[in-house]
Amino acid sequence: MTDTIVIFGASGDLTSRKLIPALYSMFAKKRLAKTTRIVGVSRSKFEHQQWRDSLRETTAKFSPKLFDAETWDQFSQHVFYQPGDIKSAEDFTALAGFLSEIEDTPADGRLYYLSTMPQLYEEAIRQLGAAGLADDSDGYRRVIIEKPFGTDLKSARKLNESIHQVFREDQIYRIDHYLGKETVQNIFAMRFGNTIFEPLWNRNYVDHVQITVAEEVVIGRRAGYYDTSGILRDMFQNHLLQLMMITAMEPPAKYDSTMNRDEKVKVLHSIRPMTGGDFANHTVRGQYDGYLDEEGVPANSQTETFAALKLYCDTWRWKNVPFYLRSGKGLSCRTTQIVIQFRQVPHMLFGEVGKSPDRNRLVIQVQPAEGIQIHFQTKVPDAGMKTRTSTLDFNFCRNGGSMPDAYQRLLMDAISGDASLFARSDEVELAWGIIDPIIEAWRSPAAPPLFRYPAGFWGPTESTDWMAKQKREWFDVC
Ligand code: BG6
Repeated sequence: MTDTIVIFGASGDLTSRKLIPALYSMFAKKRLAKTTRIVGVSRSKFEHQQWRDSLRETTAKFSPKLFDAETWDQFSQHVFYQPGDIKSAEDFTALAGFLSEIEDTPADGRLYYLSTMPQLYEEAIRQLGAAGLADDSDGYRRVIIEKPFGTDLKSARKLNESIHQVFREDQIYRIDHYLGKETVQNIFAMRFGNTIFEPLWNRNYVDHVQITVAEEVVIGRRAGYYDTSGILRDMFQNHLLQLMMITAMEPPAKYDSTMNRDEKVKVLHSIRPMTGGDFANHTVRGQYDGYLDEEGVPANSQTETFAALKLYCDTWRWKNVPFYLRSGKGLSCRTTQIVIQFRQVPHMLFGEVGKSPDRNRLVIQVQPAEGIQIHFQTKVPDAGMKTRTSTLDFNFCRNGGSMPDAYQRLLMDAISGDASLFARSDEVELAWGIIDPIIEAWRSPAAPPLFRYPAGFWGPTESTDWMAKQKREWFDVC
C-alpha cells in the first residue's frame, strides 16, 4: 500500500515554488515512500514529461541547494500530469480512471491538495465527491486546503458546510504554513518540555506579550488579491492568531491533534470581543506610501498594509495581560518574533534612583534568525553595584540542524494522518469571529484614521505613540 498525492492547481506558483521542492526534498531524504506518486492536475495541456521538465527547471531555480540531477531523475519517475478543469465532471471521471491505472490497489491512500484559486474550492470538493474520489472504504482519502479559508465568518462557514458534505472533519487538513515552521513548533517544546518557563508564564509575572510578523516586501503584483483582503485577512486571521494561540494555550493533556486543537480553540473562545471605543483605542491601521501607485490598486483604496491590535484573553492565566499583535508590509526588515515582557522586579535594590533596570524579556525568534533569547540583568564588573542587560542566546542552526521548509513538515503530517498542525473547522470560524468585527469597524464611517508610513519604516509613527501612551514600547526587531 502506498500514497498518491494529487495536486489541483498544478501549474500555479505554489506548486512549483513550494510543493514540488518540498516533496522532492522529502524524497531525497528518503522520507517519502519510494512508490509514492505525485499527480498534477490543471487546465494546461501537458504531457507527463513536459511537466516533469518544467518542474526540474523551477526546482533547480527555487531550491538550488537541494537540487541534484541524479536524485531528480529518480524522483521525476513518480511525477505524472493529468489535464483537468475543476468545473468538468468528465475530467474528474478521467482523473479517477487515470488514478486507478497508476495505483497498485484500491487500498492505496490519496491526498488531494487544493492549490487552486479559492473560489474553486467548493466546486473541486463537490466534483471529488461526485466522482467517488472521496470514498475511503479501501484506502484513506484526505484533502489539504490552502489559505485563505473563506473571506469572513459567513463564507468560511459555508465552505466548511460544503466540505463536510463530502469529507469528514478528520479527512480535512486546512493549511496555515506558519504551523509548519520549526520554530513555531519549538514553542510547544519550550513551553511544555521545560519546567523553568511554565511557572512564570502567566499574569503574575508577564506584563504583556508582543507578536510581530514584519515583512520588507510590498504587495508587488498581488493587488487583485491583496486590495480586497488587507492585512487583517491576509495575516491576522491565520498566522498571528495561530502564534497567539500557541503562546497563550494551556498545556494539552496529550500531544495529539484533538487535545492540541481543543486547547488552542479555548484561547480563541477567551479573546475579549472588541466593542464601542475599543476599535479606535485598541487598534492602529496603516498603509505604506506608494501603495496607491501599485499596479491594480484603486486610487482611493483604504486597504491596510499595517495593523496593530491589542487583544486580551479572559482566562485565569492571562486576565488583563495585553497581547499586542503587529504586522505590516513595506517595513524595515523581515522578522517574526514573539516577545514575552516580564514585570518589573517588585523592589529595586540597584541602579540610579528613579531609573529602573530593563525588565526581563524572553524573545522567540521565529524567522529569519531562528532562536530564543533571554534578556536579564547582570552586574557590571568592577563598577560598584551597577547592572546591565545581558543575553542568553540560543540559535537553532548554530546548535545543529537545518530548517526545512514548512511545507515539508505539513505534507509529511498529512500523509501520515496527523492533523495537529492544521486548523480545525471551529478554529477558523472562531478566528474569523474575532477579525470580522474589526474589519467591519474599520470600514464604517466611524473608522479610526488610516495612517501613512514610508516604506522601510516601522509602520506609522502613531503605532509607536500608541504604545507610549500605554507606557510601553515596541521591542526593537531588526
Ligand atoms: C502568506 C501571505 O500567507 O504569508 C503573504 O498571504 C505573506 O502576504 C506570507 O507574505 C508570509 O509568509 P512567510 O513564511 O514568508 O513569513
